Amino acid sequence: MKTIFSGIQPSGTLTIGNYIGAMQQFVKLQNDHHCYFCIVDEHAITVSQDRLKLRHNIRSLAALYLASGIDPEKSTLFIQSEVSAHTQLGWMLQSISYMGELERMTQFKDKSAGKEAVSSSLLTYPPLMAADILLYNTDIVPVGEDQKQHLELTRNLAQRFNNKFNDIFTIPEVQISEVGARIMSLQEPTKKMSKSDENEKAFISMLDEPKKIEKKIKSAVTDSEGVVKFDKENKPGVSNLLTIYASCTGESIEAIEVKFEGKGYGEFKQGVANAVIDVLAPIQEKYNALIESEALDEILDNGADRAAKTANKTLAKAKKAMGLGRVKRKK
Ligand code: TYM
Repeated sequence: MKTIFSGIQPSGTLTIGNYIGAMQQFVKLQNDHHCYFCIVDEHAITVSQDRLKLRHNIRSLAALYLASGIDPEKSTLFIQSEVSAHTQLGWMLQSISYMGELERMTQFKDKSAGKEAVSSSLLTYPPLMAADILLYNTDIVPVGEDQKQHLELTRNLAQRFNNKFNDIFTIPEVQISEVGARIMSLQEPTKKMSKSDENEKAFISMLDEPKKIEKKIKSAVTDSEGVVKFDKENKPGVSNLLTIYASCTGESIEAIEVKFEGKGYGEFKQGVANAVIDVLAPIQEKYNALIESEALDEILDNGADRAAKTANKTLAKAKKAMGLGRVKRKK
């Protein structure tokens, strides 16, 4: 069975973009893969966080993973900062990363642009992400399109380490779904939907109430043509809504175009809102039952124990390969 690893940052409530691009894929993959899913809280602190909010978001993300269908019997769900091997290997991989390649990462460029005080961890984020993945002998990493460049760097770092020291890391493959790999902002459909967007109308949070979802979709930017047709270049807003509809219902884009032929955007948007509400309502119900439960803590404790077993083995091999620590003398 192949091994899967993926992570999500607890940097705000997940959007429908995270759900479609990542979570929905995870739930399908856990049936025939050996899966690790991580709440990457150490990644979240690369930008300033309010400690109480971060604590809340970590627990909330764990509950959302489970409410979306991650089954702790099938998958290992854990919090990154509870398995210390991540930062340890992250540091070791920093030592084989070059400043130039880290500075070229588009996420670093976007997040640091125009800012005076940029934390150095924002630059060294990708080697930590590589460590997350490489600790588990991961074969496949399912992510949205925005993580592709980080995955390429992970592969390069793994190869560089294997060539320089010892062949211990599996080289992971990236897996990006065909539909929904990049859900766009509802207000600026040429920009990625992001949980940290300042404009709340730009994204749908997985915990938004039905009325709010309806309102946000109704105010989504489209065009003046009035035709429900997929055309990313010329009709980015409508194409984004079509993608959301298709991902929530499992229907093909073509079938949805036919369904709304000759109908206006009002009716189409109502259809999109209903599709999103139908997917999110049962998730929200499960989330509410989980968020304050002890069961959630038990799952995360078990997850951290299971993850640490594998991670510590790989870390020990990597330390040995690099010459860290010592060999004990025999008496
Ligand atoms: P993060 O927390 O920004 O996003 C989590 C996942 O959601 C996907 N995603 C989207 N997919 C489609 N449309 C969107 N608008 C959208 N926005 C986000 C992301 O591609 C991602 O799959 N660096 C990672 C977290 C991470 C990680 C890892 C991922 C840390 N270590 C190891 C995989 C493996 C991040 O910031 O994702």
